[in-house]
Amino acid sequence: MSVQHNYNNFCKPKLNKLLSALKLDKNYIKAEGNYLYTDDGKKVVDFVGGFGVSILGHNHPELIKEMTTTLQSNVAINSQCSVRSESANLAMVLNEYIDNGHNYKVNFSNSGAESVEAAIKHAYKVHFDKVRREYERITRILNDFYYKVEREGIEIELPGEENDLIDFRNDLDEYNLNQFESFQKSPVIAGLKGSYHGKTCSPLKVTFNKSYREGFEGLSSIQAAFVDHDKPQRLKEIVNELACEFYYPVLVGSKVEIHTLKITRVMAFIMEVLQGEGGIKPVPEKTLEQLAAIHGELKIPFILDEIQTGCGRLGSIYSYQDTALKSIAPEYITLSKALGGGLVKIGATLIRDDIYDQDFGILHTSTFAEDDLSSKVAIKALELLKANDSELLKRVNVQGEKLLNGFKELQQRYPEIIKNVRGKGLMIGVELTPLLTRSPFFRATGKQGVLSMLVASYLLEYHNIRLLAPLTTMLKGNPGKNRMSILRVQPPATITDEEIEALLSSFVEVLDIIQSNNEYL
Ligand code: F0G
Repeated sequence: MSVQHNYNNFCKPKLNKLLSALKLDKNYIKAEGNYLYTDDGKKVVDFVGGFGVSILGHNHPELIKEMTTTLQSNVAINSQCSVRSESANLAMVLNEYIDNGHNYKVNFSNSGAESVEAAIKHAYKVHFDKVRREYERITRILNDFYYKVEREGIEIELPGEENDLIDFRNDLDEYNLNQFESFQKSPVIAGLKGSYHGKTCSPLKVTFNKSYREGFEGLSSIQAAFVDHDKPQRLKEIVNELACEFYYPVLVGSKVEIHTLKITRVMAFIMEVLQGEGGIKPVPEKTLEQLAAIHGELKIPFILDEIQTGCGRLGSIYSYQDTALKSIAPEYITLSKALGGGLVKIGATLIRDDIYDQDFGILHTSTFAEDDLSSKVAIKALELLKANDSELLKRVNVQGEKLLNGFKELQQRYPEIIKNVRGKGLMIGVELTPLLTRSPFFRATGKQGVLSMLVASYLLEYHNIRLLAPLTTMLKGNPGKNRMSILRVQPPATITDEEIEALLSSFVEVLDIIQSNNEYL
């Protein structure tokens, strides 16, 4: 039986069929540096980089050495509920690269989605405690008012139609309880349109792409509110609009007035500085400036999702520090992907010390989190990125520029086929146009968004180059709506000039085929 057959029968039948239709159903059996090797003897240059994971290349020899020597020393991997020395070391290293004067507590997990989950859960707890405290305070004010009036027999004038003190108190009490429950049952996370934060229940809620969220709405009661990239001020309106309003009585002379205390139901705002899965979309610097100002003004916790952009992909350990957001001290930062050097599965949620909930380290744990092996490999991965005066991080920007400029030149030569080239560091997106003036075949693929996968298929088949588009390309889109055709170019920092040249010249070949409507090739 072929491996494809087994994958189809026992793992992912639909994905297998789609990959097979595009000749992308390869079985990679070895990986080294910038290359992946198939079971039929192909050596493929990897420009996907595990969607951001392998910034150091595959199986970096120093990381393999760190992992094997750690294993050979019979490291204690399963020592849950003890003092985890290597996690502490890794947490210290992660703190060293933060330049905002705050310390962060680090909660380790096993994947990106899990580290987002932890941030959301922590933010919920902090906000819930605040809303509950306020609800209890308002309830006390209401009760004190009632008992005072009762005990002292004060003559009062109730507002509106109310004339019975007990009814008045009960109505307000019930209303406030409803408001409290509205937060409890339906807390809000605000995010940016186009965002992607993972596929477990809570991160899925704040992932913008409807094809991923549809049908899973009932899995988590979190409500998401998305903001356009060019309208960050909308965040302020959302925070203001989606709020609990608690009513309490105030006696002015003999008149009872109803006053309002408003607390937003928005527990946090989550974002990537450069959206990956959403189509390699950098958030404009001006928007980041405005968001930084809103952060200061509203004091709403920010979750900076650096799962893809962090740990080297954009040339720094924390990419937000190279943007206008550097003026803020984010409450949460999430990391994963490249943190494990491509060898170990690890996620980290950094929580600013001054908002850290002391119970969280007990409330939120996972069997496999915080193991010494992953932590040691992650420490080594960070060390490699920073070695020789951050040589590799600098290389990310140098090689990234070459790729970006190369594709921009192609865009000028083929404006009818390449719609846009964008990105930063080694996270570059090449967006193809819907090809409305092409042959029926190219028109259909362009409209459905599969054109990018078709290009990927050609590059792999004829040039041993691996590129991919966001996975949603494989899902059914909204009928009638053009789907974005984007290729994600995310090679390791070790990618060479020759490999970049090879990618660009092979790309020209595909562009020529499309240009001449030569669909039979
Ligand atoms: N956040 C961001 C910004 C991501 O890019 C991803 C994953 C996640 C969270 C979830 O991490 O997969 O380890 O649970 N992005 C991949 C991608 C899937 O294609 O960009 P995970």
